[in-house]
Amino acid sequence: MPRALITGITGQDGSFLAEQLLQQGWEVFGLVRRSSSKHYWRIQHLLEQIQLVHGDMLDLSSLIRVVQLVDPDHVYNLAAQSSVALSWSEPLHTAEVTALGCARMLEAIRIGRPQARFYQASSSEIFGLNSSPMQSEGTALHPRSPYGVAKAYAHHLTINYRESFGLFCVAGILFNHESERRGMEFVTRKIAAGAARIKRGKDVRPIPLGNTSARRDWGFAGDYTQAMLRMLSADTPQDYVIATGQSWSVADFAERAFNYVGLDWQNHVELDSTLCRPAEVPTLCGDASKAKAELGWKPLVEFDQLVQRMVDWELRRQAV
Ligand code: NAP
Ligand code: GDD
Repeated sequence: MPRALITGITGQDGSFLAEQLLQQGWEVFGLVRRSSSKHYWRIQHLLEQIQLVHGDMLDLSSLIRVVQLVDPDHVYNLAAQSSVALSWSEPLHTAEVTALGCARMLEAIRIGRPQARFYQASSSEIFGLNSSPMQSEGTALHPRSPYGVAKAYAHHLTINYRESFGLFCVAGILFNHESERRGMEFVTRKIAAGAARIKRGKDVRPIPLGNTSARRDWGFAGDYTQAMLRMLSADTPQDYVIATGQSWSVADFAERAFNYVGLDWQNHVELDSTLCRPAEVPTLCGDASKAKAELGWKPLVEFDQLVQRMVDWELRRQAV
């Protein structure tokens, strides 16, 4: 049975990816770091089918040991300090985990298991302040946050290890993707949870938001993890943009979420300027033509369905 190692298995994408790998007959190992209390809610339903191994992206020796132990065929490097907003408060930690964590894992593979295929979770944040209406694999990088800078380093290093050592390393440049498993600190989950909470009458205070004009290309996380699998199963290692090709504002998301529960978003949202970023990425919209043509990948869940799925889940969660 082929063996896959996922870093970041306790996160949104890690949980979807683990499910899909199990469905395809993989033996799945997940790297987890020590914490004072376990937070395995996204993978609770998988715990009897996967194996968790302890390690930390900050600790090279732990990654070398994990690679030796698991002897993986595929490594998906999803672990990161993944909050753009937090990255201004914790720029060095973000660099350590999100940038150097990738370097450590690449070294662990180069030293211990160079045959393994490696997926790096690159991000549309690397395009940042771009002037192209649609961003593709060739678009110039202009990251706008410590997180974006860290991801740009990891992106280039992944390509460099492919070119320098001939490793099968790929960078998936994924645009924003969401689900009911999204962290609460991200704007879509915050709005979906807030709309449901207000609808249920649990806490009717307005939702504080920052820049509601920002535009993002939002897809469904489960569709995007399918693209990761295809990238590592391809004949040649290449980098791909994964996106829906449609851009929506934060206000669009809020309008649809509140409409769905029969409310007007403008009555339930308030501007909190402390949530505006020191440097914003005003708009992102991805061109995934290469992935469509070469991997046969396409997104299945549309924006309206995504909003409804997230709000429905929150309505159920908050029903009690
Ligand atoms: P997420 O939910 O925030 O998950 C992050 C994962 O990284 C968690 O499992 C976390 O573990 C782990 N992690 C953090 N620091 C670690 C460390 N020092 N050692 C080991 N593990 C550590 O992120 P996501 O949304 O699933 O995204 C997955 C990856 O794709 C991330 O690299 C993210 O930056 C990137 N990405 C995401 C999107 C998106 O829209 N979701 C788009 C482009 C790229 P704990 O549970 O212990 O905290
Ligand atoms: N988080 C947050 N909270 N964002 C807000 C808020 C708020 O209250 N109000 C407005 N926004 C705006 C942000 O300024 C940003 O323009 C947009 O909403 C999306 O913010 P997030 O949901 O935090 O996501 P992100 O785009 O910064 O980052 C996500 O997507 C990246 C891919 O482009 C993360 O998943 C990153 O890890 C990922 O790489």
